[in-house]
Amino acid sequence: MHKAEFVVVANRLPVDRVSDAGEGEWRRSPGGLVTALEPVMKKADGAWVGWAGQPDVDLDPFEFDGTMLVPVTLSAEDVELYYEGFSNDTIWPLYHDVIAEPRYKRVWWESYVRVNRRFAQAAADAAEPGATVWVQDYQLQLVPRMLRDLRPDLVIGYFHHIPFPAYGLYSQLPWRRQVLEGLLGADVIGFQRVADAGNFARAVRRQLRYETKASGIVVPEKDGTTRRALAKAFPISIDATSYIELAHRDDVQARAREIRESLGNPKRIFLGVDRLDYTKGIRHRLKAFGELLTDEKLSVDDVTLVQVASPSRERVAAYIQLRDEIELTVGRINGDFDTMGHTAIRYLHQAYPREEMVALFLAADVMLVTALRDGMNLVAKEYVASRVDNRGVLILSEFAGAADELGTALRVNPHDIEGLKEAMMRAVEMAPAEQGRRMRAARRRVLEHSVEDWSREFLEALAQFHGAGRSGVDA
Ligand code: G6P
Repeated sequence: MHKAEFVVVANRLPVDRVSDAGEGEWRRSPGGLVTALEPVMKKADGAWVGWAGQPDVDLDPFEFDGTMLVPVTLSAEDVELYYEGFSNDTIWPLYHDVIAEPRYKRVWWESYVRVNRRFAQAAADAAEPGATVWVQDYQLQLVPRMLRDLRPDLVIGYFHHIPFPAYGLYSQLPWRRQVLEGLLGADVIGFQRVADAGNFARAVRRQLRYETKASGIVVPEKDGTTRRALAKAFPISIDATSYIELAHRDDVQARAREIRESLGNPKRIFLGVDRLDYTKGIRHRLKAFGELLTDEKLSVDDVTLVQVASPSRERVAAYIQLRDEIELTVGRINGDFDTMGHTAIRYLHQAYPREEMVALFLAADVMLVTALRDGMNLVAKEYVASRVDNRGVLILSEFAGAADELGTALRVNPHDIEGLKEAMMRAVEMAPAEQGRRMRAARRRVLEHSVEDWSREFLEALAQFHGAGRSGVDA
């Protein structure tokens, strides 16, 4: 097999296999990670190791869109135990501040270890001597250590796309030491927020008693030497230019007008765009909107909420329950307030191509990002980048990583329903001049720090840091 000098390892390939009949069809995978790395991969002559999104698909490496894709096979049991179980029913809820209750099951953990080893082996096989391997996200926290043991010659980076929780929560994890040791196999461990990197360093001090200084961590190796790892915030971003280009396109702008018309030309459109996930605060925003209609502060004649909730992790119990709750709430609100010509909430349990999303962003006067906890929330940045007209208001939860950067958004605590309602009213009433001031400042940040800056900064830090401070080598 062709060996690559740059290898990305992620749970998902950047494409999902959508048909199982004969030649598979491929579609872009969901989530922020793929969006973030796509432009990086286009530039590098690299390989991407990941899962094709379906159980028991055994495929040889193949080239897609200029990148070598190396599929890792997951059996139906792996999907259940490693992906739906440990990744998305243990780590995901635990790392998002136990919004849903994490379940700790030993068979899930055992599967997580097995599958992480498989990814580490696949990466080791794909990498040429001295290559850089960039491991992505919480599904693969053990890979950095496993990979270092297999291939000490590699430069290993890890980026954590989701929050890293406070120590008081993290310490619930029965395998808390193994996970920290797994991550510390990397030379650089990147986080979204300064607070995440701080939580990680604290867990390392408390659990492993390793020395940490500023962003550096002294990691003892089995052979008695020590090396230094860097744990630091590298906030991720988006490919801002591609959103700007789309937002300038005539057909996309025409589509934005068409969307407004098809909703009956309301005076104001609220928009929510999320994977259907309990971390996103969709219920909180529906509650606030429903109350504003009940209080007669808003009327369906003037205002519509468009909620795109893309299907996600549909076999995990917490997601099944959330979907039921949301759909019940939407049905009730619409039943109470819809008229023949106007709907309160246009709810879409679907995923859309980027063109349609940008048209929606352009059509929306107020974007609601009310996450209860979110690593970054790229939708907030996508909305801002798309508003080339410097109009629109972003309501942004302080619990999303994006809040550290987008200081001119209307900041909310989504648990505070009264505060959320006030922010929503303020947004619908905001004068264009104030919208423009806030939007321009937010756009500046997103344009100045796009996903290419993110990956460049991470990879530069990785190149610099690799091998630094190794005792007995070049300390
Ligand atoms: C988040 C995670 C990604 C994940 C994506 C979609 O963005 O950080 O690692 O790929 O959600 O979730 P899924 O479970 O469908 O991969």
